[in-house]
Amino acid sequence: MPEILPVNWLPDGRLPASSSAAVQRAADILTRGGLVAIPTETVYGLAALATDAAAVARIFRAKGRPATNPLIVHVADAAMASPLVRVWPQRATTVAAAHWPGPLTLVLPATKLVPEIVRAGGGTVAVRCPQHPVTAALLRLLGQPLAAPSGNRSGMLSPTTAAHVAASLGDAVDLILDGGTCDCGIESTVVDLTTEPPQLLRPGPIDRSTLAASLGCQLLGGSAVDQAASSSGVHRSPGLLLKHYAPEADLEVSSESTARVKQRLKHGERVGWVTLGGHSSSELLQEVGEGMLHHRDLPDEPAGYARQLYACLHDLDRLAVTAIVVETPPRSELWQAVHDRLTRAAHRDAI
Ligand code: TXA
Ligand code: MG
Repeated sequence: MPEILPVNWLPDGRLPASSSAAVQRAADILTRGGLVAIPTETVYGLAALATDAAAVARIFRAKGRPATNPLIVHVADAAMASPLVRVWPQRATTVAAAHWPGPLTLVLPATKLVPEIVRAGGGTVAVRCPQHPVTAALLRLLGQPLAAPSGNRSGMLSPTTAAHVAASLGDAVDLILDGGTCDCGIESTVVDLTTEPPQLLRPGPIDRSTLAASLGCQLLGGSAVDQAASSSGVHRSPGLLLKHYAPEADLEVSSESTARVKQRLKHGERVGWVTLGGHSSSELLQEVGEGMLHHRDLPDEPAGYARQLYACLHDLDRLAVTAIVVETPPRSELWQAVHDRLTRAAHRDAI
């Protein structure tokens, strides 16, 4: 098992002495080319120094990640991002001022300082300034950017706790900083600012209208299905392949989840049932045998739902259910990121 160091922070964002020592240890490991799992407000990341191509290669090996999928570079502030970016448009300044630090990733033209492996051979770099106080402190201490994809094996669910990272990556990671449960629970919003108009590559905690309002223009894209369907071999954002963020169990989303759960139980499956908004399962639980049905009810507002979604799916996987049936959440725009992740988790064929 990898070493796991608990870290916490004070209400003003500063770290107590024990956590500062843990962050120092993380910085030492990273400086020597090691891999450290870091807490962020979205999901846990698996970090290496962004300018250390050999360390970044270890990230790809640890995750089993295809070399064609570029990494997000995490920075302490816009000033740390600027040497990595060849053209920094006014829109980037505006949107970073509005949402950094926070769950927003900007795709911009890269300079030669960004190693090819980080860019997956492309001409752009994705930059993000995380808000989590521990990772913010680590970035300031290092004074250098960190390349960090989510801290899970490629194609599996992103981790929202240190335990999820340990279960997914084991000894492939040198140290895990345990900063508690991630606040947003799903990955950052990714927007490509190299196109006109800008393109929403991955919906996330910052919703489309909010982002469009801060950019002062309309956005293209944003649907997981459209993105993958329209990409013919070359992916604008390779992580947008379907079948991403998937649990081990076969997941389906249904607007008649009660009926689907009954059907799957009849076929002898062990079922995980995910509802929202205080749905009761007591009747069904009385009908079926012990251990055949595991029910989880999530909040019926999008931020609360997103915060708990991956933890809920991780949990059901651990209970070795064969099927997960998710009641379809509402269709409004604020739910777009949740629908995106559920669509990917339910998709069985691609990659
Ligand atoms: O919230 C997050 O963004 C988390 C935390 C750790 O910061 N990170 C994360 O990284 O989700 P990852 O690697 O799991 O997802 C990054 C996404 C992928 O879909 C990748 O293809 C895309 O961003 N991406 C990275 N660099 C890109 C680039 N230069 N152009 C287009 N897409 C890029
Ligand atoms: Mg990921």
